[in-house]
Amino acid sequence: MRQITKSAVRRSTSEHILALLGIVLLAPLVPLRGGDPSATPGDSALPLIRPAVSTGTGLLLQPPLDLSKFTTEEFVALSSTVGTNRIHKHWTSAVVTLPPHARPGVHGLTEEEVKDYMIQVRRLFDEGSAIPISDTGLISTQEDVIRRPMLNHIAAFSNSVARVYLLVQKTSTDKGWGYFSIVQDLTVDPPLDYFADLNGKGVKFEGATCYKCHSSGPLAIHPARADLVSDAPLAAALSKHIADQPLSRFRFPQGEIPPDYGRPLALKACTKCHDTDGDRLPLFRVHSHPIRILVDFGYMPPKRRLTPGEIDELRAWLEQKP
Ligand code: HEC
Ligand code: HEC
Repeated sequence: MRQITKSAVRRSTSEHILALLGIVLLAPLVPLRGGDPSATPGDSALPLIRPAVSTGTGLLLQPPLDLSKFTTEEFVALSSTVGTNRIHKHWTSAVVTLPPHARPGVHGLTEEEVKDYMIQVRRLFDEGSAIPISDTGLISTQEDVIRRPMLNHIAAFSNSVARVYLLVQKTSTDKGWGYFSIVQDLTVDPPLDYFADLNGKGVKFEGATCYKCHSSGPLAIHPARADLVSDAPLAAALSKHIADQPLSRFRFPQGEIPPDYGRPLALKACTKCHDTDGDRLPLFRVHSHPIRILVDFGYMPPKRRLTPGEIDELRAWLEQKP
């Protein structure tokens, strides 16, 4: 993933003051917090995300990433380089409420409107008005490519037409932070997910590069270790907001022809939910990285472990020649 450019970070003072004024002026009219009532800290019934422990299925391509030398102190120090004013926010809802959409009765957001949402949430994060969770994610890194801790700050926003997500990310050895966003257009049925990289001059829509992990829109939060997450109740609330999302479709950028992904995974233990009319979309071999990891760490299927026979069936499918 590309690194953030300096010019993108350094905003002019006048722009900053204008932005601050904007917040002050809007504050009495538009409450910035308080969206999704299910995502509140008082919801003590919400279970925390289970720590990631390999169940030894043999599906991993490499041994689980050894983070034993990566301490909580290092995690906190590295996470904080994003700016301590931006993280560890007091929260009442995990989702920041955005002002209402400007165009009433909208049916289908335009690309410009989607981009505006992405720029808006990045600005809110930079100003310290987002409610991010910070973690070292289990599967943000391709297991056979980046064998380093990946630091994430993840924040969610919404209004009645869109659910918007921001990811601010770097590996333990990168200098700058990268910005990525997902906008879920709720004005069409089924909702449509736009993915973009915000690190260059503008917003760059992305397709296949994001699809290989995000098969059905935003991904649940999976901290690699219980002490590598900033606010576990917030992570659980955000993950619940993500899990409760409507079934959506992946939007490939204009001009990008979606590759032929072959036949979907037919394992019954998965198609119960991952199917064209399921809770989640079908899975293809292009998704083998998150499949191997989520199954091995016991997150998928959600309520039981696969039998040895099912694991063999899954492995055979993953290793099939196209
Ligand atoms: C190697 C797998 C992988 C790829 C490729 C990937 N992501 Fe993600 N992404 C993740 C994981 C895993 C999370 C949740 C991480 C955590 O637990 O903190 C995530 C989280 C996010 C989030 C925060 C909301 C959410 O889903 O939890 C955004 C926004 C995001 N990614 C955008 C993108 C975009 C845009 C691209 C393509 C440019 C992309 N991602 C490519 C794995 C991936
Ligand atoms: C009971 C329903 C259910 C079953 C069965 C199930 N999944 Fe899932 N799966 C989900 C839900 C809901 C999500 C998104 C929320 C989450 O990540 O917890 C998800 C997410 C995933 C993801 C992350 C990408 C995405 O689409 O969000 C992968 C990969 C995945 N599942 C693989 C599998 C595999 C492989 C199996 C079978 C071994 C399986 N799942 C069985 C419900 C299910």
